[in-house]
Amino acid sequence: MLPYRILERKRAGMRLSSAEVAEVVRGASDGSWGDAQLGAFLMAAAIRGLDAEETVDLTRGMLESGTRWGLKSEVPSLSDKHSTGGVGDKVSIPLAPLVASCGLPMAMLTGRSLGHTSGTADKLETIPGLDLHLDRRRTLELLELCGVASGIATPGIAPADRRLYALRDATATVSSLPLITASILSKKLALGAGAVVFDVKTGNGAFLPELSEARELAAMLVRTADRLGGKAGALVTDMSQPLGRWAGHTVEILESIELLEGRGAPDLVEVTFELALEAARLVDFALTRGDLEEAIASGRARERFDRWAALQGASTAWLRAPTFSLAPVEKPLLAERSGSLAAVDVRQIGLSMVEAGGGRPRPEAEIDAGVSLHLFARLGDRVERGDELARLYLRQDDERLARQMAACFTVADEASAPPLIAARVPA
Ligand code: URA
Repeated sequence: MLPYRILERKRAGMRLSSAEVAEVVRGASDGSWGDAQLGAFLMAAAIRGLDAEETVDLTRGMLESGTRWGLKSEVPSLSDKHSTGGVGDKVSIPLAPLVASCGLPMAMLTGRSLGHTSGTADKLETIPGLDLHLDRRRTLELLELCGVASGIATPGIAPADRRLYALRDATATVSSLPLITASILSKKLALGAGAVVFDVKTGNGAFLPELSEARELAAMLVRTADRLGGKAGALVTDMSQPLGRWAGHTVEILESIELLEGRGAPDLVEVTFELALEAARLVDFALTRGDLEEAIASGRARERFDRWAALQGASTAWLRAPTFSLAPVEKPLLAERSGSLAAVDVRQIGLSMVEAGGGRPRPEAEIDAGVSLHLFARLGDRVERGDELARLYLRQDDERLARQMAACFTVADEASAPPLIAARVPA
C-alpha cells in the first residue's frame, strides 16, 4: 500500500479503509513513513476530517502500536481519569485517594506540564521522594495495597502517538478532534481500566474554549471508547477561571491535601465529587456524595493519600508535616475599580506563569515549582477598588509581569459565574 495513494485519497476527502489507516500507524511506528508523509496525513485529516470509523481505526492502531496493560482483567472495578487540562486543575491528585478510601480503586498515568497548562506528573514530583515510574506489576501491587497508583506514561505505551503528537505540534494540527480523540484514548485504553472518566474543559483557559467543541470532543471520546470495548463517560467543566484557590506546582499539592482534610475550595470540591460519582457510576459501584463527605470527615481520605504516597516512595516525615516554600517576591494584584469580577483571561495567566518560570515552554525545560498564584476572587464576586484579587509569588521581582497578570482580571458593573458543570456525556 503506497503512502502516496493513501495521502492522495485523504487529500481528496475520501474515506480511508481500516487497512489504510493501519498502514499510516505502521508507518509512524516503524519509521517507514517520513515526517513529510505523516505531516501531510495529519494536515489532510485535520482539514478533511476522519469519520467515526476512521477515528476508531486510528485509535485502535495507535493503541496496538505499544504495550497494553489490560488492568481490568485483574481489577474489574478499576477506574481511570483524564482531564484535557487547565490552570489550577489539580483534581487528579485528591480524586484517586478519595475514591480509593471509599473502596473504588483508581490508577492513572499522568502527563507533564506543557504550554499554558500544568501537568499532574510535575506537581506530584515536588513531593520529596515520590517516584512516578511504574510498570504493570508495580501498578497492580499498589492497587492491591492501597487502591491507588499514579505514574507517568511509559515510552512503551502508544509509541505511535509520541511521534504523531510531536508532528501535530509542528504542523498546526493539534486541535483536530479525531486526532485528539485517538491520541488521548490510545493511551487510556492501553492502561485498560474498567472505565475512564473524562473531564473535558471549556472556557478561555481550555485547550478547546468553545463549549460546542468541548462537548463534541467529550462525545467522540465516549463513543470511540465504547466501539473499542472500553467504558467511558465525560463531564464538560468550566475553565473560564482557574480551579480552586491556587495555581502553581507545589501549592497545588498542598491545596489537594487541604481538600482531603475538609478544607477544599468549593469549586474544586464540586468538580472532584462529580468526577468521583461519575467514575463510580461507570463501574456500577454504589457511591454517594455522603460517602465522599464521610471519607473526608473521618480522615480516611487523607490517610489514604499518605499511604499511597509513602508506598510510591514519598518521605513519611514530609507527609506528616507537608510544607513547601513559595517563591519569595510577593506581588499583590489589585482591583482597579469597584464592581463584580466579570472575566479572567485564564490562558494568559497560564502563559504568564510559564514566563515567570512556573511552567514548561519546551519539553526539556526546568520548572520553578515555587512560582505560584493565590486567587482571592471568583467570577461574579463583588470587589471594591484596591481589593486584592490575587497574589503572585515570583522568584525575582518583575513589575511588567505582575502588571500583565493583573490585566488578566476584568471588573465590570455586573457579572455572574458560568456553571461549573457545563455538560454531561454519560457512557
Ligand atoms: N492530550 C493528548 O494526550 N493528546 C492530545 O491530542 C491532546 C491532549
